[in-house]
Amino acid sequence: MTQEEVFKNLTAHCKEYGFIFQSSEIYDGLSAVYDYGQLGSELKNNIKKYWWEAMVRLHENIVGIDAAIFMHPRTWEASGHVGAFNDPLIDNKDSKKRYRADVLLEEYIAKLEEKNNKEVEKGRRKWGESFNEEQFRATNPNVLRNQAKIEDVKAKMVAALNANDLKALRDLIIECEIVCPISGTKNWTDVRQFNLMFSTQLGNISGEDGTIYLRPETAQGIFVNFLNVQKTGRMKIPFGIAQIGKAFRNEIVARQFIFRMREFEQMEMQFFVKPGTELEWFKAWKQTRLAWHKALGLGDQKYRFHDHDKLAHYANAATDIEFEFPFGFKELEGIHSRTNYDLSRHQEYSGRKIQYFDPETNESYVPYVIETSIGLDRMFLAIMSSAYKEETLENGETRVVLGIPAPLAPVKLAVLPLIKKDGLPELAHKIMNELKLEFNCQYDEKDSIGKRYRRQDAIGTPFCITVDHQSLQDNTVTIRYRDTMTQERISIDSLHDLISSKVDYKNLFAKII
Ligand code: GAP
Repeated sequence: MTQEEVFKNLTAHCKEYGFIFQSSEIYDGLSAVYDYGQLGSELKNNIKKYWWEAMVRLHENIVGIDAAIFMHPRTWEASGHVGAFNDPLIDNKDSKKRYRADVLLEEYIAKLEEKNNKEVEKGRRKWGESFNEEQFRATNPNVLRNQAKIEDVKAKMVAALNANDLKALRDLIIECEIVCPISGTKNWTDVRQFNLMFSTQLGNISGEDGTIYLRPETAQGIFVNFLNVQKTGRMKIPFGIAQIGKAFRNEIVARQFIFRMREFEQMEMQFFVKPGTELEWFKAWKQTRLAWHKALGLGDQKYRFHDHDKLAHYANAATDIEFEFPFGFKELEGIHSRTNYDLSRHQEYSGRKIQYFDPETNESYVPYVIETSIGLDRMFLAIMSSAYKEETLENGETRVVLGIPAPLAPVKLAVLPLIKKDGLPELAHKIMNELKLEFNCQYDEKDSIGKRYRRQDAIGTPFCITVDHQSLQDNTVTIRYRDTMTQERISIDSLHDLISSKVDYKNLFAKII
């Protein structure tokens, strides 16, 4: 099955089992807007908890806030979003499809990189043990030709984006002979800038412009509260402020399910440091965040850093943690060294002094900032896409299983009486009533035990507890493990400790501190 088919199946699975629904589906849906269902919202809450506790609870110098979505409109002038939060868009005149010009070029570059990787693999197969990749990349004519093209296109793209030269962007697309994936033609319009912020009206003040924006990032809610938190929390630099919340962007090119949405959620942390120390902190946060991802065990090879070729004018370093989604490596989290740009701009636009007094050096300064910013929905997609497996079992049967890391699984265990009589449901309820004080449990007595196991596999429940006649005699049950499908008989009294040891977030945190 191709990755595209797997992704299609995953999308259908998310709906079938109550993870994600198209927004307002009964009205045919709203493009790039989604609702999380009964299991999706559990998983989402668990991801939030993993992030919040790893950031706020495990770091004594990080605190969390919850700022409003609406902010004073001057915020977005100060931050630069009103003037420059734009995407360069280009339309194909034949298919009438719209694309981001820079994304078309990045995809072109990615294809050349892929070609080179294939050449390298060919070489490896041909030369076997004696293969030297470095030497091969430095001498193979095909690889060298592609590499030269990659560097040339990158340099031209960065120059065009930095100079806001939209004509040069279009010329580069033509020069690379990029075709529209739908129509297959090179019949492109000019490139135009498009602001991504949604606006609405505040109140009903006649004669006054009450335009306000739905925040396109949560970060500004942290910056404008820097002084409030620093003073009331008596925070000393270096320290961080974390926040989870909704953000809104009028994405024109909204594709790939919940990867790019118009309403989404971010988990952001701004870490305030002394000027001159920011690049050290940037390096440290890259490693801290990568460790957080890897602790989930989705596969270390699924992550890579992608340093930005084009730095935003306020940044002096930026990288993405990319994840291997079914449609390729894509940005999952951004880590940015944002200098003192945001705080300085808010100081200028608000007329308030936004500085930190360092008691050790008796100096005041505008702190520098390292930002870590991850999309909650993208994290959800990363987990679901690596968890989703269609397996053929030894006996020829098939099963769909979600191998969600146990601490994040929406339902931790299912309690299943073997049959609906003889006192088995009563004992099953008794077990469930005790365990539900700590874990999200499901009770299920309908259909054969095999069918019930499959239902739980399909929603990623790590443990199924089966209550049978022997349970009434000796106070034991069967516990079945989702990933291995193995079963063992254990005492009812030991259930709590066993499950707790597997689903506890402690297991994840122990790997990252
Ligand atoms: N405050 C910095 C900031 O917002 P960004 O790279 O624009 O930086 C950060 O966004 C993260 O937010 C991304 O890495 C991605 O995970 C998520 N994100 C951005 N736009 C998104 C969208 N339209 N839909 C879903 N997630 C998005």
